Amino acid sequence: MTPHETFAEGAFLLRGFATAGAGMLYASIDRIAAQAPFRHMTVPGGHTMSVAITNCGDVGWVSDRKGYRYDPLNPLTGLPWPQMPECFTDLAGRAADATGYGHFLPDACLMNYYTAGAGVSLHQDKNERDFTAPIVSVSLGSSATFLFGGMSRKDTPCRIILDHGDVVVWGGPSRLFFHGVAKLKQGASRHNLTFRKAL
Ligand code: SIN
Ligand code: FE2
Repeated sequence: MTPHETFAEGAFLLRGFATAGAGMLYASIDRIAAQAPFRHMTVPGGHTMSVAITNCGDVGWVSDRKGYRYDPLNPLTGLPWPQMPECFTDLAGRAADATGYGHFLPDACLMNYYTAGAGVSLHQDKNERDFTAPIVSVSLGSSATFLFGGMSRKDTPCRIILDHGDVVVWGGPSRLFFHGVAKLKQGASRHNLTFRKAL
């Protein structure tokens, strides 16, 4: 296994795991965003998310007034989401291998883009059908504070600074733990890719 830090049972931080491949990841992000632009989705309560999102893969995570779900079509274009590039699946698979999760073949990648003031409040990733697969999260760009709690929203989260190239993997006992991202500071911009087995 690659050296890593553990911050909760089943949750690992691989510092700099994606740094060497970041150029290819950015090129793929640009290609995907040209077909499926980043946009601010509405949540069921009516608010607009501060983070801009898009997706690639067989299905994409979407939100609107009706709720959250995985959809094979991009609601903005009516077209299927762009295919997941090989450098994405390869990185996600290697990160899962490195943390003991074995073979991981994601079918969905949620792509987040944060600028100053954007963040994600504490939530669980629970729209996937398969909770036996981990979540693999790749951070690019400005540093951000990742909050990682427990099974209850009330559990005090630990705070982890995620820098460019860092990869987080969580699954098993912490697969449904609450997590979020603190609002980014002035001048910051950050991409995050989360790989999921949604179907
Ligand atoms: C998320 O939970 O979807 C966001 C994770 C991150 O941006 O680090
Ligand atoms: Fe999440």
